[in-house]
Amino acid sequence: MENLISLVNKLQRACTALGDHGEESALPTLWDSLPAIAVVGGQSSGKSSVLESVVGKDFLPRGSGIVTRRPLVLQLHRIDGDREYAEFMHLPRKRFTDFAAVRKEIADETDRETGRSKQISPVPIHLSIYSPYVVNLTLVDLPGLTKVAVEGQPDSIVQDIENMVRSYIEKPNCIILAVSPANQDLATSDAIKISREVDPKGERTFGVLTKIDLMDKGTDAVDILEGRSYRLQQPWVGVVNRSQQDINKNVDMIAARKREREYFSSTPEYKHLASRMGSEYLAKMLSKHLEQVIKSRIPGIQSLITKTIAELETELNRLGKPIANDAGGKLYTIMEICRMFDSIYKEHLDGVRPGGEKV
Ligand code: GDP
Ligand code: NA
Ligand code: MG
Repeated sequence: MENLISLVNKLQRACTALGDHGEESALPTLWDSLPAIAVVGGQSSGKSSVLESVVGKDFLPRGSGIVTRRPLVLQLHRIDGDREYAEFMHLPRKRFTDFAAVRKEIADETDRETGRSKQISPVPIHLSIYSPYVVNLTLVDLPGLTKVAVEGQPDSIVQDIENMVRSYIEKPNCIILAVSPANQDLATSDAIKISREVDPKGERTFGVLTKIDLMDKGTDAVDILEGRSYRLQQPWVGVVNRSQQDINKNVDMIAARKREREYFSSTPEYKHLASRMGSEYLAKMLSKHLEQVIKSRIPGIQSLITKTIAELETELNRLGKPIANDAGGKLYTIMEICRMFDSIYKEHLDGVRPGGEKV
């Protein structure tokens, strides 16, 4: 299964690398059929912080105000050994081992597209992280939903962000991580509002409750966490991310996760829920869920790939095969990946008994 998820990751990158050429082939459909997890919610609800703790690495720009201004498509690849590095699609062959430099490159690449303003852009940044400490996942960080345009932003920005977010989460294959801060009334949650719109039954929405540590004294989140306030098919997960003060003081991820665990196991109200709370639990649950989704979609992806291979072959014949580094080359790479998918899929099928149990 591990294999299958990383292959889906490769396909996703290949589809994007194809860029404009994708419009002419079946590839946009293929792209749409690949599952990913998108993080949605109001501005400063803690989306980027949640993603960071799921990954277990400090690498995202975070803070108050509109920090995330372009979608970030993040692919996590589990590798053996003890090396950890990151690569951007717009900087091929450059390996980042310093994650502070990754954060800076995200900020710089955001500015390159939008200017140093508070503008947003729907053009995604693609980042891959290779590490022995991650689970295979594709995650999308999105700009936060807002209610009003601030100084320097066009009035259309509120609607623009909403449309951009919707374009990701309305796809039936998108798993929605709906982030709501516990220190605001759930009835006002932007995350719940927009996810309910695209997933009314709550079948592919995971409720994540942040800022539990910032709730008013005398109140707690037990009703929400136990699913009584707002029902979803998937269980709610509460998290405690780093505060702005922690960020300013450079509190590291390991310390933050330890503190988060202690928070849930030592707070009387949450003790009985401690084993299904926190970022590490969230990461494991998401990976498991993604696996199930991919499994259930394999036949669909498979037939699309067969169709794509046929179309690519036609297109390649038209272009002539020796073309190395332009459209032909890219198409060729994608076809190779599709073929790989094809064979791994068949291997996978061979390993599955008629009852569905893997041998
Ligand atoms: P985003 O705008 O939704 O991506 O939110 P960020 O992740 O950038 O977080 C916004 C601010 O809230 C930052 O200053 C974070 O430190 C802070 N924050 C996020 N989650 C929590 C939390 O669980 N507890 C506390 N105390 N602060 C948090
Ligand atoms: Na923010
Ligand atoms: Mg953010």
